[in-house]
Amino acid sequence: MRLVLLGLPGAGKGTQGELIARKYGIPHISTGAIIREAVATGIGYGKEADAYLTKGNLIPDDVAIEIVYDRLNKPDCRRGWILDGFPRTVHQAQALDKKLAQDGSDVQMAFEIRITKKSAIERIAKRRMCRDCGAIYHLEFHRAKGKGVCDLCGGELFRRDDDTEETARRRFYVYMQQTHPVMHYYAQDGRLYSVDGIRAIGDVFVDVDHHLQRLVAEQNVGEAQ
Ligand code: AP5
Ligand code: MG
Repeated sequence: MRLVLLGLPGAGKGTQGELIARKYGIPHISTGAIIREAVATGIGYGKEADAYLTKGNLIPDDVAIEIVYDRLNKPDCRRGWILDGFPRTVHQAQALDKKLAQDGSDVQMAFEIRITKKSAIERIAKRRMCRDCGAIYHLEFHRAKGKGVCDLCGGELFRRDDDTEETARRRFYVYMQQTHPVMHYYAQDGRLYSVDGIRAIGDVFVDVDHHLQRLVAEQNVGEAQ
């Protein structure tokens, strides 16, 4: 299963990515999380990336592409992967297709999680994340059981530096300018699947999973022939 998750900041890419990973046992790869980790440790591109992240801008295409190429070469990606936050420009989408084609592979489904800006702002404003395992919570819609502590690993919950209203607005603008066209890129050849993201987390997942079950069934038929 080789999947791409698209959608406005706060649409639920990370949330759905975690659920898909848990059900299908394939890695959920968030370029945002990888970049935040590099910024926190200050290694390699991490020092320069900080300024892009805090302003809500995209890091340069060549850096993002290298991050993803490196990650997809890891052994745990052999059975498939979920890319969350990549590709974010048409150039990144083309580079990914080119790399995969070299191995006779491809992106099978690109999901667009549709949500309004108003909902996105509500979600971002009250999002909390685990510092240790990256699990995603919301102060109203998906609360952790303990106060400020991750249900899964007991790690400390924190608010992302780019989750201020000002940076979020810039991220929406950048999304419309640079990432929205990626949707058309995948729609052109029938790889785009659009789901209504303004529903409860579990209901959105039912829709996503409906498409994934079809993909699995098609693969099983293909292997049996
Ligand atoms: P990234 O980390 O990818 O941020 P983003 O795209 O802005 O998306 P978010 O992570 O904010 O939202 P999400 O859709 O994952 O929502 P979530 O599931 O958390 O990128 C950050 C930065 O890194 C970029 O700005 C850029 O600088 C850089 N970057 C990353 N990739 C790059 C690339 N390829 N090229 C260049 N630069 C790159 O959910 C949000 C909240 O809502 C949570 O609190 C959650 O609990 C809640 N929630 C989720 N679903 C629901 C629901 N159905 N109902 C109610 N609440 C919900
Ligand atoms: Mg995310």
